[in-house]
Amino acid sequence: MKRHRIIILGSTGSIGRSALDVVRSYPDVFEVVGLAANSNVELLAAQVNEFSPAHVVVVDEDAAAKYGQLGLSVACASGLAALDDLAAVEVDIVLCAVVGAIGLHSLLSAIDAGNRVAVANKEPFVMAGQLIMARARAKGVEVLPVDSEHNAIFQCLQGAAPEAVQCIHLTASGGPFYGRDRDTLHTIAPAEATNHPTWDMGAKISVDSATLMNKGLEIIEAMWLFDLPAEKIEVVVHPQSIVHSLVEFTDGHILAHLGVTDMKFPILFALTYPERVSTPMARLDLTTMKDLTFSTPEFDDFPCLGHAREAAAQGGTAPAILNAANEEAVHAFCREEIPFLAISDVVGEVRQQCAGRAATDLETILSADRDARVRALEVIHTLGTVKT
Ligand SMILES: NC(=O)c1ccc[n+]([C@@H]2O[C@H](COP(=O)([O-])OP(=O)(O)OC[C@H]3O[C@@H](n4cnc5c(N)ncnc54)[C@H](OP(=O)(O)O)[C@@H]3O)[C@@H](O)[C@H]2O)c1
Repeated sequence: MKRHRIIILGSTGSIGRSALDVVRSYPDVFEVVGLAANSNVELLAAQVNEFSPAHVVVVDEDAAAKYGQLGLSVACASGLAALDDLAAVEVDIVLCAVVGAIGLHSLLSAIDAGNRVAVANKEPFVMAGQLIMARARAKGVEVLPVDSEHNAIFQCLQGAAPEAVQCIHLTASGGPFYGRDRDTLHTIAPAEATNHPTWDMGAKISVDSATLMNKGLEIIEAMWLFDLPAEKIEVVVHPQSIVHSLVEFTDGHILAHLGVTDMKFPILFALTYPERVSTPMARLDLTTMKDLTFSTPEFDDFPCLGHAREAAAQGGTAPAILNAANEEAVHAFCREEIPFLAISDVVGEVRQQCAGRAATDLETILSADRDARVRALEVIHTLGTVKT
């Protein structure tokens, strides 16, 4: 196999660390050309010492100054523009694993430079998926999904004619609170919401999984990745997280993707596609599979999923507004400024206040994102629970 030169944006996060575990297992297959993080310079320094990338970015300026004092052999660049510049360095693949809408520019920068991208960072797709895919098509750039559900669907769709796809079924674990009485969720602390039953992930996506917003964001991500209307994307609750998603064809066949709950599998697939690399990682033991269950989600108990479905159907800037409101609400919850159940209230209120428009260009989308964040912070404040 040829050596893959890679850049990892968000190398200190859950996905970034899993990606470096993959790289560590295949020293002859991967060469790390660039690493980027926001502020965790201690971990980044250890990664730099181990993988010797040519380029390092620390986005946060204060953290970059700290990095500079560590006396490492590779200096870092800082700021968001440096992240975009790193994404444009010519490599075989850029893994976009930053969290949040902040990753949009670097994703576009990688595509504009003609770099193939492996995308875990779903929020940019929710905001601007149509624009991202249009740019990728124009540049002839392949976009490979890392999110386990989308990676599963991507694999099930190999060789399929688009018109033969009846619908896709995104599986949802349900998160830590599925099936619990909603009245018991008022006092949920961030530590409980980030304790996911089947996946080990960063804080933001863990909270999104607990509200089921994550599945809503994934519906919108899937629309653009697979060029499907929202009504062809179903969500099915599957608490065991063994079936990672399914594709139903017009002739009644359903293809499912099964695997263990370890993001190293979809990461390895995306980084080496279209080849399949032999792996010593722990496999699924089919003989231990029992009681794989599938059910319709409880939309009333998880209003975020309903909000996302509506925003997906509305289109235009509605998904960007949804995403911005959700990001601000989740941050406020993690800072213990609003209760868990208020996350969906913030999203609902901001969606009501911000009129969606046609998402004609990037500036329109970014402006909708900015306005929605201002509104979200006002709503969070008026909820009267902001710490002083
Ligand atoms: N974790 C999963 O299993 C999983 C599965 C599917 C999809 N995803 C998606 O993948 C993305 C990453 O998730 P994660 O769980 O890995 O998140 P995470 O653990 O919170 O890591 C986020 C990464 O982004 C960096 N970062 C944060 N703010 C940044 C900024 N302003 N500029 C540049 N870098 C910044 C962080 O750097 P510092 O460490 O320095 O703060 C860290 O490296 C999310 O969009 C998520 O939805 C994750």
